[in-house]
Amino acid sequence: MCGIVAFTGTADARSFLLAGLARLEYRGYDSAGIALVQPQAASQEAGSAGGTGAVLEVVRRKGKVASLVEAVEKSGVAGTCGIGHTRWATHGVPSEENAHPHCDCSGRIAVVHNGIIENYAHLKVELIEKGHVFASQTDTEVVAHLVEENYEAHAGDFTEAVRATVAQLSGSFALAILHANHPDTIIVTRNDSPLVIGSYEGGAIAASDTPALIDKTREISYIRDRDLAVLHSDGSIEFFDPAGEPFTPAIYHIEWSLEQAEKGGYPDFMLKEISEQPRVIRDTIANRFDRKTCALQFDELPLTDEELADIDRIYVVACGTSYHAGLIGKDLIENWARIPVEVDVASEFRYGNPIISTNTLVIAISQSGETADTLEAVRLARRAGAHVIALTNVMGSRITQEAQTVLNIKANIEIAVAATKSFLAQVALLTLLGLYLAQERLLLTGAQVREIYGEMKQLPGQIEQILSDTAAIEAAADACAEAQTALFIGRGVGATTCYEGALKLKEISYLHAEAFSAGEIKHGPIALIDPDAATPVVAVATQSSTRDKMLANIEEMKARGARIVAVATEGDERIRELADHVIYIPPTRECLSPITASVPLQLFARFIALARGCDVDQPRNLAKSVTVE
Ligand code: F6R
Repeated sequence: MCGIVAFTGTADARSFLLAGLARLEYRGYDSAGIALVQPQAASQEAGSAGGTGAVLEVVRRKGKVASLVEAVEKSGVAGTCGIGHTRWATHGVPSEENAHPHCDCSGRIAVVHNGIIENYAHLKVELIEKGHVFASQTDTEVVAHLVEENYEAHAGDFTEAVRATVAQLSGSFALAILHANHPDTIIVTRNDSPLVIGSYEGGAIAASDTPALIDKTREISYIRDRDLAVLHSDGSIEFFDPAGEPFTPAIYHIEWSLEQAEKGGYPDFMLKEISEQPRVIRDTIANRFDRKTCALQFDELPLTDEELADIDRIYVVACGTSYHAGLIGKDLIENWARIPVEVDVASEFRYGNPIISTNTLVIAISQSGETADTLEAVRLARRAGAHVIALTNVMGSRITQEAQTVLNIKANIEIAVAATKSFLAQVALLTLLGLYLAQERLLLTGAQVREIYGEMKQLPGQIEQILSDTAAIEAAADACAEAQTALFIGRGVGATTCYEGALKLKEISYLHAEAFSAGEIKHGPIALIDPDAATPVVAVATQSSTRDKMLANIEEMKARGARIVAVATEGDERIRELADHVIYIPPTRECLSPITASVPLQLFARFIALARGCDVDQPRNLAKSVTVE
């Protein structure tokens, strides 16, 4: 949902801004731009504006950051203080005029923004009445004009002008603001949108996410809603709360390195992240079982035995892939811990009327920890008195500040827009949580828990085995690549595995895909099978209590001319007779099968996307972090 970067220092700002934007491109990629303060006019590029002393130079381009890089190089703009933006359009079509940065009437103030200014229409009318002239269709541009107004009203005090502006805005925003009259200073602020801030010997920096900063510093700070951070070129940063009171924020250390944020020899981030899954599962489940007490440990959970025993309902709230992980978690928790679990998409939960009491546990799942709907669901749940557990990949993210308990999946930074390794880690952690709740409620013995945990430790090796030979997956993908639509079927956790498999396929290959419980297919979806098109049906038919039913469903699809791609357990020879393509995976118990069965589905989607010429890391219309409603 747009990426912003800001740099003020002693070195050239361009290289930081452009490299930072490239690393934030997963957040949006329909246009990009930078603004630099220059001591004197040095460029003819549209958007530059002079006056006395320093001037502002703006370069913007429609399309990906690569086209901006070309334009910046051609323009020759340079400077040591600048801001940049990569856009995921919300207000106004993707175009050069709507690309950020946006300027005020004088062309001396520039703004980049991630989020939505909800009251922009009303503000714009007022500003136009005062004589301001707008150059774009965006909501963002009002911010530049408001700062212009407030700068005059506060006699040229830049910080006060921004503070007054922030007080006039509603909605979500992370903003970086430049003023040519203050050529060494950038002011950043946020409300419900992510922003990280840091400094190093070369200056002060800020960005929407850590990958943009990681090669300069691994010590970062966050600000709260509507706080201001004033970045100075000597690397110092002043922090002010909304009342203008200075404060010193906490400093967080980023655990992962720059290498982890790069492709490391893989052709795309998606393949790199799929390949990291054995390590991710190993790290996520490590050190959870205490051999001495023969019990799973969840030291992060502050609930007493009594409170755990009193839980009478669990809500899982999440979006997209994280929602699918929640559906799998529901099956496991209900089976083992016998607590009713409702899984809601966060955008519905927040506007619904959920039945919540102090005995309700809410598990909010978010890879990024910044998804607007999930955050709002957390707030609603807390207001209603529930204990909220956040299950996230990003420590320090917004959700970690809003929930009472934080469980960290150990996926490390995920850059490909399509979630893969974070999904597997979420499912693994929910599996452990289900076991833990059952253990604490005395529904599973220590020995039973140890046995399942022992099998979980086999998962990394099993995933390695799947990754070591992907020929069958590639052959199945090649055969299906031209299809118009694909169906995914499964039963129990196999069905929920299919929901995620279908989402992966549609989001990166644009091949229409839908998943169904196999038992439901006769009630309508079977009409989609077109014998002339040999409609692909991907069946997750691994060893399970309903495997024979799955075989019967596969026969029904086959009889109607479907092309069957089966994900089955090694040694299952019967399925070879029914399916056109069989992808074998190692045997696991049914409750763990989503973790292994998801891997071939991720690769299947990727192979099809590549065969269709799609960009697997940056699919059209999507962005990694959905920080707006
Ligand atoms: C799909 C995908 C999205 C996210 C969803 C929630 O591959 O990545 O569906 O799962 O936008 O994001 P988080 O988990 O960051 O809240």
